[in-house]
Amino acid sequence: MSNEWDEYAENWDVDPTVEEYAKNAFATLLDNINIDDLTVLDFGCGTGALTQLMSPTVKSIVAIDASSEMIKHLNKKALNNVSSISDYLSEELVQSRPELANKFDLIVASSVCAFLPDYEATLSLLKSQLKEGGMFVQWDWLSNDDSSNIGLSEKRVKQAFLASGFVNTRVNSPFIMSSSKGNMPVLMAIGENA
Ligand SMILES: C[S@@+](CC[C@H](N)C(=O)[O-])C[C@H]1O[C@@H](n2cnc3c(N)ncnc32)[C@H](O)[C@@H]1O
Repeated sequence: MSNEWDEYAENWDVDPTVEEYAKNAFATLLDNINIDDLTVLDFGCGTGALTQLMSPTVKSIVAIDASSEMIKHLNKKALNNVSSISDYLSEELVQSRPELANKFDLIVASSVCAFLPDYEATLSLLKSQLKEGGMFVQWDWLSNDDSSNIGLSEKRVKQAFLASGFVNTRVNSPFIMSSSKGNMPVLMAIGENA
């Protein structure tokens, strides 16, 4: 499936910011969740920067991305416990793909949710793919302005988690990325499927 992210795929893995973001996301994931032997869905996996870090520890990963070019680069990494899907996540896809037939222990979304046309609806769909007690974790640019299209505010994320029925929700900003545009704080949100 081709989309607007295809053009970034070729240089995604050589961008030091991508690597640093994934390393920070992975470290903060481990600070909060024991990922040993978990079944994982990496939603919006891109070329698999975070998938690759989780792969040696978890049981298995289904890595999904709407960009076929991103998935092509992930597949080149030939990670033995990772299966990939090149498509948009939707109810129909969940019904049709055998990789999505079983619910997951953990779903991660690294720098994806702020780009979704309907974050709240997708969050509910993601929650429905978790086992009871399963965890969802997202990282996005932290924004103080919900009308901007860069990032998500703590308020919006907290409201969305509450509306979707997540429990034990934690929202914070555990790391800051520095770039030519200045320092950009990253929001991390964790919720449990009761
Ligand atoms: C900023 S990139 C992040 C990629 C990767 N998670 C990382 O941190 O390197 C956002 C990715 O989300 C994917 N994406 C956006 N909406 C999606 C959807 N509805 N279903 C699947 N993938 C989606 C895009 O194709 C893109 O590769």
